[in-house]
Amino acid sequence: MDKKKREKLEQLYWKMTEWFAGDPKRIQHFVKVHSFAELIGKGEQMEEQEQFVLEGAALVHDIGIRPGEEKYGRCDGKIQEQEGPAAAEKLLKELEFAPEEIERITWLVGHHHTYDNIAERDYQILVEADFLVNYYEDGIEKDKIQKSCRKIFRTETGIRLCETMYGVTIKISETWAQDNIREMEEFIESQGIYIRQ
Ligand SMILES: [Fe+2]
Repeated sequence: MDKKKREKLEQLYWKMTEWFAGDPKRIQHFVKVHSFAELIGKGEQMEEQEQFVLEGAALVHDIGIRPGEEKYGRCDGKIQEQEGPAAAEKLLKELEFAPEEIERITWLVGHHHTYDNIAERDYQILVEADFLVNYYEDGIEKDKIQKSCRKIFRTETGIRLCETMYGVTIKISETWAQDNIREMEEFIESQGIYIRQ
């Protein structure tokens, strides 16, 4: 990534540290999410611009926690998604991010707790990085990590990180394939669709 872009991300890093001033837990959270997102993005050979947007989104992804707590006294995923984009937009504008970068980053901030329709790579990687950190911070048990990681993770680098960090096996196994076939068969049956072999 060119020097200017790297510097911009550093400025954003500082801004987010100030945003969560006095709250080291939140600061250390976004630092870890950013670091894993960076590593996964590089491992997946992202283009420079895509990587820049991903890292920007990782730094600001939880920005909605603070306005959420101030307004509603809570900071669950939905509130974060609701409150985050406007706060992120303000910050990114101050740092003169380009309009299309702001658009994409704020969209990611507004969707990072929605897991049912992840289509793009930056979105997928942001979600994986956040999960990698949350599993640990929330003290999630190993078998639950394995299950949710199998469901959510798609990138080779993210899967490798999850397997290495938590000592679980995520790689698509024969059982996984069979489970999927079974799920598909049940779905077909429930829909009353008949497929000739
Ligand atoms: Fe997060």
